[in-house]
Amino acid sequence: MAAAALAAGRLSALPTETVYGLGARADVPGAVARVYAAKGRPADHPLIAHVLDAAALDTWARQVPDYARALADRFWPGPLTIVVPRAPHVGDAVTGGQDTIAIRVPAHALTRAVLARLADLTGDRSVAVAAPSANRFGRVSPTTAEHVIAELGGVLREDDVVLDGGRCTVGVESTIVDCTGSTPAILRPGGVDVADVEAITGLRCGVGSGVRAPGTLAAHYAPRARVVLVEDHHLDVAVANAGVDPDRIGVLALVDEGTPEGAVRLAAPASAAEYAKVLYAALREADALDLEVVLAVPPGPDGIGAAVTDRLRRAAFAGQP
Ligand code: TXA
Ligand code: MG
Repeated sequence: MAAAALAAGRLSALPTETVYGLGARADVPGAVARVYAAKGRPADHPLIAHVLDAAALDTWARQVPDYARALADRFWPGPLTIVVPRAPHVGDAVTGGQDTIAIRVPAHALTRAVLARLADLTGDRSVAVAAPSANRFGRVSPTTAEHVIAELGGVLREDDVVLDGGRCTVGVESTIVDCTGSTPAILRPGGVDVADVEAITGLRCGVGSGVRAPGTLAAHYAPRARVVLVEDHHLDVAVANAGVDPDRIGVLALVDEGTPEGAVRLAAPASAAEYAKVLYAALREADALDLEVVLAVPPGPDGIGAAVTDRLRRAAFAGQP
């Protein structure tokens, strides 16, 4: 059903291993325009093209450097997005008018099946589904089908599809690597560790680059509750300084941090990977409980901890007066 909807130019929310995406056929500008409208996303924030396999690179991109192919070989299907110069026929709708395109091969079995079916229906094996995270612009990304419906239920049409693939296993978005230069540059930390990108390419990664990643705003991924980062681990002090009753305060931290008296524990993950998996659901839970403040102790900077800390920072920035 999802593939048929996409083939016909309708929208389908799709599960991926990272977060749920709101998909449209990348080669149907009207469908892509509906994705922007549904999210309330500004037109100059480009989307990621999701494809079945790395062979599609040669359809959508040009001048793909060897190190980008090495990354694709190693990490696809998986939580890695590469930014490369776009092929001449690629329209402005997907790329937000940039001369580059972001491409990813997702790993979730259901979405892979949808891409394969869509390839059959369209007779085009390199068909791409343009899909941003399936949340309203600037808000918390969805990691279950219920989250998607809570975000977009009001704006999707009856003949659009929300495909339920369970809870996302990674829980934060893909790592975005700018592959337009002679060495890779990290535009967004995510499900693939930067150290692994360097190990596979044998190159040092820059952070940021000349390439614009407009969606990586300082303020993003924000619940209604005000998020405060507690990097010194002193949760008791942070509760005392929050200026609200402890029962209006949620706490998000690794399991070895205690919960200050009276505060609401939102999650107690045992590792950075588990932290990533529960992060967005915990931020949504804070809003469901109508909490005013979320105190978040970020995990360590290693591995996926970097991505979790990045998202918490942006969520905290969004809440600043
Ligand atoms: O894990 C993910 O990447 C999820 C799932 C659904 O695949 N998708 C996702 O999409 O996070 P979105 O739209 O929420 O974030 C995509 C990011 C944005 O920051 C956007 O600016 C950046 O990718 N981006 C897309 N195309 C780009 C390009 N050509 N150059 C630089 N950045 C680009
Ligand atoms: Mg997003």
